[in-house]
Amino acid sequence: MPNADHEPVLVQSVLRELSPRPGMVVVDGTVGLGGHAAAIIPLISPGGTYVGLDVDAEMLASARERLKEWKDCRVELVHASYAEFREVVRTIGSQRVDAVLLDLGANSAQLDDPARGFSFSRDGPLDMRFDRSQKRTAADLVNSLPETELADMIYELGQDHASRRIARKICQVRHKARITTTLALARAVESSLAGISGGGGKIHPATRVFQALRIAVNLELDNLERFLAVAAESLNVGGKLMIISFHSLEDAIVKKFLRGPAGASLSEITKRPIVADDDERKRNPRSRSAKMRVCVKEHD
Ligand SMILES: C[S@@+](CC[C@H](N)C(=O)[O-])C[C@H]1O[C@@H](n2cnc3c(N)ncnc32)[C@H](O)[C@@H]1O
Repeated sequence: MPNADHEPVLVQSVLRELSPRPGMVVVDGTVGLGGHAAAIIPLISPGGTYVGLDVDAEMLASARERLKEWKDCRVELVHASYAEFREVVRTIGSQRVDAVLLDLGANSAQLDDPARGFSFSRDGPLDMRFDRSQKRTAADLVNSLPETELADMIYELGQDHASRRIARKICQVRHKARITTTLALARAVESSLAGISGGGGKIHPATRVFQALRIAVNLELDNLERFLAVAAESLNVGGKLMIISFHSLEDAIVKKFLRGPAGASLSEITKRPIVADDDERKRNPRSRSAKMRVCVKEHD
């Protein structure tokens, strides 16, 4: 069972902005290891309802173990995508909720487990699925996308300007043998950039390619858009929508939504997104790129 002792990102800010009170109905669209849940549930008890979703069955099992003690709060943990949260909320008998939280991306248990294939710091199968019941893996994409589509994906989702060169190299390598492991892919990316000035930057050359693949395999941006299209209507007036994102592509989608018709009933509580303070940034490196936008529903 993954270790659930890590500190959830921006947890103090989440609690402050959520203002939890007994009886509240809260949806956590990315329950993960249950870190935010463990902080919120005591404050909405007694009488609260906490609905936690995750597409990763292993994370849900961990959250279930961690949250099993709560008797005076209804805790519903469901294997589902946050894109489907409205249907889940209906099946548990609620129409509207008081708050929805999304803490996007992967958690440390997933990133640190080489068998999940999210990272190239240790070798593992090139997998990257949050939901292991899904068929398509990162290896499927790497070995089947035409070169131009591969380059577009690396450029658009990884924001990597060397995308064409990297895609060309990947295609040369896979022509000889299927690329099936994280290190094989990282090596292909490295070799595509060998000799280019501007290498030796702060991040490993494969970092952006891995980000692009993870987003593509899990349809992360599509899921966020599907979620946002229905998020506001499922909130009570006065209810809060809280979204923690980790890269500019996610935050851009949230900003666009807030300016468009689907976000018209919401107003953002702070002008700028909430970020981690220096202490948290030191304690928890993942918090350094976290940005939380908090909105309140003003009217129907
Ligand atoms: C950053 S972690 C959440 C950590 C959690 N807040 C905690 O305190 O432990 C993000 C989680 O979202 C899950 N996830 C990713 N895409 C999802 C989706 N479309 N629907 C539901 N969960 C998803 C991942 O499996 C991962 O467990």
